[in-house]
Amino acid sequence: MHLKHLSLTNFRNFARLDLDVPRRAVLLVGSNAQGKTSILEAVYFLATFASFQTHTDRQLVNFVAAQENLAVARLVADFVRGGRSHHLEVRIIVEPVGVLNGQRTRKEILLDGVKRPSSEIIGQFNAALYIPQMSQVLEGGPEERRRNLNLTLAQIIPGYAQTLGVYQKTLEQRNALLKQLAERGGDPAQLDFWDGNLVESGAQIILWRIQAIQELERLATRTHLSLTRGKEVLRLAYDPAYDPLPRPSGQFALKLDTPADRSGLDLPTIKKGFTEALKKLRPEEISRGITTIGPHRDELRFLANGINLGLYGSRGQMRTTLLALKLAEVAWMKEKTGEWPVVLLDEVMAELDQDRRADLLSTLSDPDQALLTTTDEHFFTPTFLQDSTLWQVHNGAVTARG
Ligand SMILES: Nc1ncnc2c1ncn2[C@@H]1O[C@H](COP(=O)(O)OP(=O)(O)O)[C@@H](O)[C@H]1O
Ligand SMILES: [Mg+2]
Repeated sequence: MHLKHLSLTNFRNFARLDLDVPRRAVLLVGSNAQGKTSILEAVYFLATFASFQTHTDRQLVNFVAAQENLAVARLVADFVRGGRSHHLEVRIIVEPVGVLNGQRTRKEILLDGVKRPSSEIIGQFNAALYIPQMSQVLEGGPEERRRNLNLTLAQIIPGYAQTLGVYQKTLEQRNALLKQLAERGGDPAQLDFWDGNLVESGAQIILWRIQAIQELERLATRTHLSLTRGKEVLRLAYDPAYDPLPRPSGQFALKLDTPADRSGLDLPTIKKGFTEALKKLRPEEISRGITTIGPHRDELRFLANGINLGLYGSRGQMRTTLLALKLAEVAWMKEKTGEWPVVLLDEVMAELDQDRRADLLSTLSDPDQALLTTTDEHFFTPTFLQDSTLWQVHNGAVTARG
């Protein structure tokens, strides 16, 4: 799939931007703080309806425009998928609320002119993203890894975003009830209803994660092996907070380097086990006033030759691993949908050594379209530059370079 046209209004430092986007590789060149990353952010937002830089949509709205009582940032993409053109529009609306000069931010999303909830539109336009800050996926807390996983899975697995939304709402309500039971007492049987709902959506998320992580691991391991010239075997170890894998009682949890095979598990088995685990934990959860197991606490570990990279990886190992993971995501999306996602790479060359640069550039000949940013085009080979479109980004404006 590829973008034909991108149009931004009041997005970050772009008051207005209109770009016809060519196929293949587009290289955005410019010094710092000119708007290169913001363009990738906009394209990724069109795929996930989330920013990789902020959790607050308001920050995406041009801050001069946002001084007004009412401000709208508009992201519009014309893209081609399976030979068909589509029109996708996202409006981030900052509008007045209440009497005390309050403002709220909300989103509207339209596909081919029809307004629909984000969880129904997600997946139509796909993008895969690599940015240097993504080292947080390895080094940061588990929520960073869950977020990265969710943003990829939500684009590809029909129903994932919606089910995750239901799970999160259920979790909030269940936690509120647990807190109430902890503070004021009451009949614990009130939890039965919420347990049922939590298991219904949670088990489905767990099953999807088991399958997807297994598929991603296969692809990432292969790429990583070739990036490390056969020296390191990468593993993605899914470590669900509620683990449906039966463990012999009286034993410690499986060691990190022992691969756990959850491939035989089905939905009814996970539901049954999850329900029983919640029953067992009920007294503890009531006294703590919080839900202690489920997909909201899942962990994903990256191991190279059995070593946890998040804890013990060198800079170089982490970069190679992230690159392998990102290329695996691209390949996985293609495998699942038959369409290449638009590949977004922010300042990726500066971080890599000569060999890895060449590896990366050679893989970029496959996808339909890739947008790359750089402060220095000399990181790229003359052949690559020859085959790419070069755009100069300067102070919120883009000009084509001959
Ligand atoms: N909401 C906003 N409104 C206007 N400008 C913004 C907003 N958010 C960020 N900026 C500015 O946009 C500029 C471009 O940032 P960025 O895209 O990260 O640049 P680059 O990747 O080229 O270094 C920065 O100067 C930043 O301060
Ligand atoms: Mg940048």
